[in-house]
Amino acid sequence: MSAPDVRVLADLPGVTSAARELVLSIAREAIEKRGRFAVALSGGSTPRALYASLVGAPLDWDHCQIFFGDERCVPPEHADSNFRMAREAWLSKVPLLPTHVHRIYAESDDANAAAEEYARELERVLAPPPGELPRLDLVLLGLGPDAHTASLFPGTRALAETKRSVVANDVPALGTRRITLTYPAINAARHVVFLVVGADKRAAFESVTRGARDVSRFPAQGVAPKGGELVWLVDRAAAGAV
Ligand code: 6PG
Repeated sequence: MSAPDVRVLADLPGVTSAARELVLSIAREAIEKRGRFAVALSGGSTPRALYASLVGAPLDWDHCQIFFGDERCVPPEHADSNFRMAREAWLSKVPLLPTHVHRIYAESDDANAAAEEYARELERVLAPPPGELPRLDLVLLGLGPDAHTASLFPGTRALAETKRSVVANDVPALGTRRITLTYPAINAARHVVFLVVGADKRAAFESVTRGARDVSRFPAQGVAPKGGELVWLVDRAAAGAV
């Protein structure tokens, strides 16, 4: 496998600025070539600055479709909601059509049904050829200190999914359930971009990009877009360059 495209930036502002440029470039190319930009947003805290930086960006919002890479099983107004974070930082501040923001209804009592419904929504909007997985233009991902990404956590069942694009995933380490894109959905994307910031990610980043292959222990290793581009935007602290 070719060496990963790792771009080391000084700090969070550096990662944010590089990510903004990359997102806008991917979006413009997608809209130009296919009339639409479909992106799955990452949760957590690192991407908040990126989302805020996209307010006022010169994007053709009517041709943008916003999805989520994963969601916690909480209502959309809950402090832990990835949707809430993105809406507050970005989505509520730009002229996106409400029907173009596709939230995961993770507050449902039936997480499996919510995951199936989200998979159908991806199919409906992205309309892949028969038998093919929906193809996002961009998936934004973070990296946990335990090398999880999206809600693909070490040792969890979702790591073994090879067919479905979205599943509910029990995470015993957190004592919670999540809904997440799977490797098939992520690896079908045209572009996957990791945003990794902070010394607490150094060990995970090292294991994932330079350690022995062990996807169950280091789930982010399972991200390898088949016909797409994988880029890591990492600050010096996480890259171990300080
Ligand atoms: C989530 C994210 C998760 C996140 C990592 C890194 O729902 O929490 O999808 O995968 O990207 O945990 O989070 P930070 O960016 O906050 O470090």
